Amino acid sequence: MAETPLPPPDAVPAPSVTAEPFGKLADGTPVERWTLVAGGTRVRVLSYGGIVQSVEVPDRSCRYANVVLGLATVDEYVEHPDPYFGALIGRYANRIAGASLPLGDRTYPLPANDGPNCLHGGTRGFDKRVWAAAAAPAAPGAAALLLSRTSPDGEEGFPGTLDVRATYTVTAEGALRFDYEATTDAPTVVSLTNHSYVNLDGEGSGSVEDHRLRIAASRFTVNSPTSAPTGEIADVAGTPFDFRTARPVGAELRSGHPQLLIGLGYDQNFVLDKGVTAAPEPVAEVSSPASGRALRVLTTEPGLQLYTANFVCPSFTGPSGRAYRPGDGLALETQHFADSPHHPHFPSTVLRPGEHYRSATVYEFTVR
Ligand code: BGC
Repeated sequence: MAETPLPPPDAVPAPSVTAEPFGKLADGTPVERWTLVAGGTRVRVLSYGGIVQSVEVPDRSCRYANVVLGLATVDEYVEHPDPYFGALIGRYANRIAGASLPLGDRTYPLPANDGPNCLHGGTRGFDKRVWAAAAAPAAPGAAALLLSRTSPDGEEGFPGTLDVRATYTVTAEGALRFDYEATTDAPTVVSLTNHSYVNLDGEGSGSVEDHRLRIAASRFTVNSPTSAPTGEIADVAGTPFDFRTARPVGAELRSGHPQLLIGLGYDQNFVLDKGVTAAPEPVAEVSSPASGRALRVLTTEPGLQLYTANFVCPSFTGPSGRAYRPGDGLALETQHFADSPHHPHFPSTVLRPGEHYRSATVYEFTVR
């Protein structure tokens, strides 16, 4: 299918990065909302949790819509932390089984905030912290925001003082790029991601089951009944996890595959065929036949968690004023594999003093 780069050249406003007050936390800490405009894409980011609140891109008729799920106010983000809408996830994306971190000759207890496991960095992970935010230098035509924060030694049980920098860039072509960097003063584990849920027909428009999905992964990590990897790596061939050729996300959701019953839908880590790379490489593509919008994901990471918003319950509304139901968005979380600290055959997530953690992911938007 023909792809048209975004946006129509005459509709591109000059790149800009602006900030506005966006309410306060209960303890009085002010939250800012930053707006990045470049290449015909407008992205809103909160200093609370590094949350991507909205990503507005055109459809094939040049009609703009916000294609990520989110909430309208900071109070609602605090009140409904569970879906992690658009959040910067850390210090460790996804689960560490048994909420215990083996590292060197010690085992560090972590908060068990998801059954027996530690999920997304613990009870108060990076998604619930206020980040220092500032406009960052960017290439001509692009707009960038730098979020930085020092995570103290022992925060949520993790050892090592971790200095983290996350740069969000809207490129001259209208792509959204995430660059993460971190250094530590003691051995620790790091795996950072963004937890945006995509609905290419616009948030609040209904299910994404008809979206076509392709993932360049021949294998996936098998989950235990508590959704942490068992360590087994299985072939996708002949299973509902085979997205090597594009097909509707919902095609096999009701197949009864035991792995899909555990998480009430897709909630698995795909082992990307390309492995770890120095530069972001294409790993997944989602498109909507209805709106013509398409998203291509590129990453340096070896894994991708496909999560079909299985636990998003209709107890609140998005910015459109419509309630979200399970399956109304899908998250493509680039990451090192969940629970790597317990599985030495998974790519290592250990960061030591003197080493530099770097990870980059790009969301490229096009229309078809
Ligand atoms: C996890 C899900 C979890 C969700 C939080 C995903 O990354 O894999 O199991 O429920 O985040 O909303």
